[in-house]
This record gives sequence, structure tokens and C-alpha cells, in this order.
Amino acid sequence: MNYKKYFRKTSLKQKGVGEFFLDEIATNKPSVFLEVGVFHGVTARNVCELLYRLHGKNFKYVGLDLFEETSENKSEIIPNTKFSNPLKNIYFNYVKKQNPYSIEAVEELLKKFKNNVSLIKGNSNIILKKIDMSKIDYVFLDGGHDYETVKNDLVCCREVIINGGTVLCDDYDLSYAPGVKKAIDEFVSINSFKCSIICNDRFAKIVKN
Ligand SMILES: C[S@@+](CC[C@H](N)C(=O)[O-])C[C@H]1O[C@@H](n2cnc3c(N)ncnc32)[C@H](O)[C@@H]1O
Repeated sequence: MNYKKYFRKTSLKQKGVGEFFLDEIATNKPSVFLEVGVFHGVTARNVCELLYRLHGKNFKYVGLDLFEETSENKSEIIPNTKFSNPLKNIYFNYVKKQNPYSIEAVEELLKKFKNNVSLIKGNSNIILKKIDMSKIDYVFLDGGHDYETVKNDLVCCREVIINGGTVLCDDYDLSYAPGVKKAIDEFVSINSFKCSIICNDRFAKIVKN
């Protein structure tokens, strides 16, 4: 399945990774999808296109992100939001006059699916506790990479797994963010869940045992 980049940045840019990810989603066929860490919305758009093909209008995509760098979220790792390609800088600065990392820009990228999409601007450490997880059947966890944040995010997603859903964590084994692996390994062990490390150690897929 082709993963499109939509002239923006994405963490699934490595050859074959986006395609692997979409095949994984297509196999699971979730109808209520949560992405923690939306960034420029590229994965969001790919997921919406796929869920539309699978379910028509009967799907829901919920996306959560800080959507801005502030002094309060300095401790979180936010990927460089600037482009190295000058054409992309010109396009967003002078043509679109838009920051691709803003909630408004992501809303625009997803406007085709506006009745199916809910975007939330905020910190997952606060917001996830307020979301009704009983409705969600698939989570792509790709937000904060700090140990405490990943630990909190996973605890909040526990209900999804208990109910038979899936949590797919990105960046399982990153040398510069070891807290991701530590939090996942602890969470899986404490709850006796099944964890498969897939796509060349890139993703940790957590389901009920
Ligand atoms: C690696 S990027 C996500 C990439 C995106 N999933 C994709 O596939 O292109 C991580 C995102 O997580 C967001 N983030 C970091 N800490 C967060 C937190 N505590 N709560 C919500 N979002 C967070 C950042 O703003 C950033 O946009």
C-alpha cells in the first residue's frame, strides 16, 4: 500500500516503513483510530484515506498533538519542524502562509474527512486521561518520547488492549530516546500483554495475550 508524503514531513519517511504501517492497519481494519503525535498530519491523512476505503464514512480518526513549541513542553522531543528543501519552505511561508505543524494546517490537510476527524491540541499527559478509551480500537503511539510520557500514555491506553484492540508504538529502540523501550518493556511485563517487535525493530505492537 502506497504511503504518500503530501509535501510535508513525517516520521515514517524511511523507505518501506509507511507501506509496512499501512499494511498493518489494513490487516487490523480498525474503525476508531487514535494517533498520539500527529506532527504535520501525513500519517493522519494516509490513515483516513485507508479507513475510508475500508469503511466508507463509518470511521473515526482522533489525533492529539502539542501542535506548538512552548516553554511548558520544552522537555518533550519535538522533531525539527523546518524543511531542508527550500521549495517546501517557500511553499509554506509564501504560498500557503501556514505553519505545517499547526492544528489549522493539519485540519486543512484532513478537510476531506472533516466529519470523521477530531484533532485535539494538548499534552497527552493531561488529555489522554479525559478521552473515552472504550470506543477506540487502534492506537498509534508516536507522541512524547520521554520515559514518563510514554509510561503515562501506555497506562491510559491499557483499556484499548484489554478490550481486544491494538497499541502500536513507534521508535521502540531509539538510541537517543531509550525511555520509549524502557516504558514499553515495563508496561508489557506488568500487564502480561503480548508484544511483537516488528519492521526491523521499529514498532512495538501490543495486544492482549
Ligand atoms: C515523531 S512526531 C509524530 C510523527 C507522526 N506520527 C507521523 O507519522 O508523521 C512526534 C509528535 O509528538 C508530539 N508530542 C511530543 N510530546 C507530546 C505530548 N506530551 N503530548 C502530545 N503530543 C506530543 C510532537 O509535537 C510531535 O509532533
